[in-house]
Amino acid sequence: MRVVILGSAAGGGLPQWNCGCSNCREARTQGPSRTQSSVAVSADGERWVLLNASPDLRTQVAAHRPLWPRGSRATPLSAVVLTDGELDHTLGLVLLREGPPVAVYAPAAVGALLTTRWPLYAILASYAGVEDRPLPLDAAVPLTDGRGAALGLECRALAVGRRPPRYAADAGAGEFAVGLRLRDPRTGGTLAYVPAAGAIDATVRALADGADLLLFDGTFWSDDELAGVGLADRSALEMGHLPIGGPAGSLRALRSLGARRVVLVHINNTNPVLRPTSPERAQVEAAGVEVGEDGMEFEL
Ligand code: MLT
Ligand code: MN
Ligand code: ZN
Repeated sequence: MRVVILGSAAGGGLPQWNCGCSNCREARTQGPSRTQSSVAVSADGERWVLLNASPDLRTQVAAHRPLWPRGSRATPLSAVVLTDGELDHTLGLVLLREGPPVAVYAPAAVGALLTTRWPLYAILASYAGVEDRPLPLDAAVPLTDGRGAALGLECRALAVGRRPPRYAADAGAGEFAVGLRLRDPRTGGTLAYVPAAGAIDATVRALADGADLLLFDGTFWSDDELAGVGLADRSALEMGHLPIGGPAGSLRALRSLGARRVVLVHINNTNPVLRPTSPERAQVEAAGVEVGEDGMEFEL
């Protein structure tokens, strides 16, 4: 299985349009910038599955030759798997409207959001249209393209978060966020993809155990990170993201989950791990965990 981190940043990207934090200021003048959260996977190197659809999808496709069209309107993008219904993981579907109907795998609670509170599927029905494919929890689903042809990857989703997105805050608790375990039955290569996790619990352990690669929630270093840069916003945990640092942070546990390699993704622009010389970055590296970059590739 080939894996490409298309976008390593959380919602807003780096730099974020309205942010004057030191990371965004530096990214504006010196680079590098980071696009918003998405990963591409492929068993054959020909047909690709997007894990989440980033608002920066257009730039991401342009930057990766394997995702370029092979002929007139012949895209190698064959399916999309959504881990949640957040805007930074779904807005990219709007950008796929010029193509053939898109096969979108989503957990039932997420599919429901996208037909009601954020009626993306209804809007897209007048364009390419979405083929709404259920992603049952805790079952290995063989992924297929829009024509039903096998893509050579099995996907198992486990619920990691019960918090609805902000636009549906009154929806109550539900299975609104999943982590994925993708397996290439030919090579045995296994990817665990958990871009949002509020805790390291039995579910995260089940996703990560024995995986060749764990791409894990690196949104915030500390719980009060947004307040710390003068932004009156919610805490990391209130947003459903376990901070990396501190005595209860993810970093202490990430190398003990049984994954061969651990790389942080969905990194917010305020996060000090983005600065190569920061003490926080040094702590991450000393723990044997990597900070994800746009364009990072893996062969599993
Ligand atoms: C999240 O990951 O918590 C959300 O995408 C936040 C947001 O962009 O509103
Ligand atoms: Mn997000
Ligand atoms: Zn910023």
